[in-house]
Amino acid sequence: MGTLAAAIPVTAGATAPSRHAGGRRHRPRGSVAVRCSSAADERQALFNRIAPVYDHLNDVLSLGQHWTWKRICVSWSMAKRGDRVLDLCCGSGDLAFLLSQKVGLDGEVMGVDFSWQQLQTAASRQDQRWKACYKNIKWIEGDALDLPFTDRYFDAVTVGYGLRNVVDKPKAMREILRVLKPGSRASVLDFNKSSSFFTASLQSWAINNVVVPLASSYGLTEEYKYLKSSISHYLT
Ligand SMILES: C[S@@+](CC[C@H](N)C(=O)[O-])C[C@H]1O[C@@H](n2cnc3c(N)ncnc32)[C@H](O)[C@@H]1O
Repeated sequence: MGTLAAAIPVTAGATAPSRHAGGRRHRPRGSVAVRCSSAADERQALFNRIAPVYDHLNDVLSLGQHWTWKRICVSWSMAKRGDRVLDLCCGSGDLAFLLSQKVGLDGEVMGVDFSWQQLQTAASRQDQRWKACYKNIKWIEGDALDLPFTDRYFDAVTVGYGLRNVVDKPKAMREILRVLKPGSRASVLDFNKSSSFFTASLQSWAINNVVVPLASSYGLTEEYKYLKSSISHYLT
């Protein structure tokens, strides 16, 4: 069964995350548990809205290529059997499922996201596409800017199309560094903010003429228009 834990749960024991201890119980659909700035609230609401069609649009818009990029991201994280790993901004869990197969049943995967709807999708996918190793995944509602884990807790961290969406990117990166064990890796997958005029123009054309029109057919015009500004504010 998919495990969806609100804000803290993880395993008991000496190494369990201690921040925000005394975690909350499951809460009703639609209520908001993780709150930050108003900009972050808006993004949280945006990702809740697109959750029902997010996976489908990823498949269509990337022509299935996002799976190749996600496999590369996981392989660059150097996660291996038995590791405890974090998939930050996990959304519906693609990277977490790939990590789960890497670390196996003697490893652990924590998928963290502040969108309850995305986590619910992840938990139901965990049930529907059941593989024995998926038992090692826990879904945790949490904020990338205040991770509910002790220092040096993870052997690897992945972030897929997430860091770009976080309001305070340097703070999120400090949090990632804090929870990683020394010598371990974070692997971050995202859209390229290109300095080449040609590539940037092509990317902008594709967003205006392919991505937004397709998203509009699902009533998500504004949600996908946001892609362009998020790329323009992203790190190089
Ligand atoms: C574009 S989705 C990516 C989902 C998934 N990683 C993937 O590769 O398909 C970005 C995710 O980041 C999450 N997110 C954005 N800011 C966050 C924050 N401050 N804390 C936790 N999750 C956040 C959103 O809720 C959303 O699910």
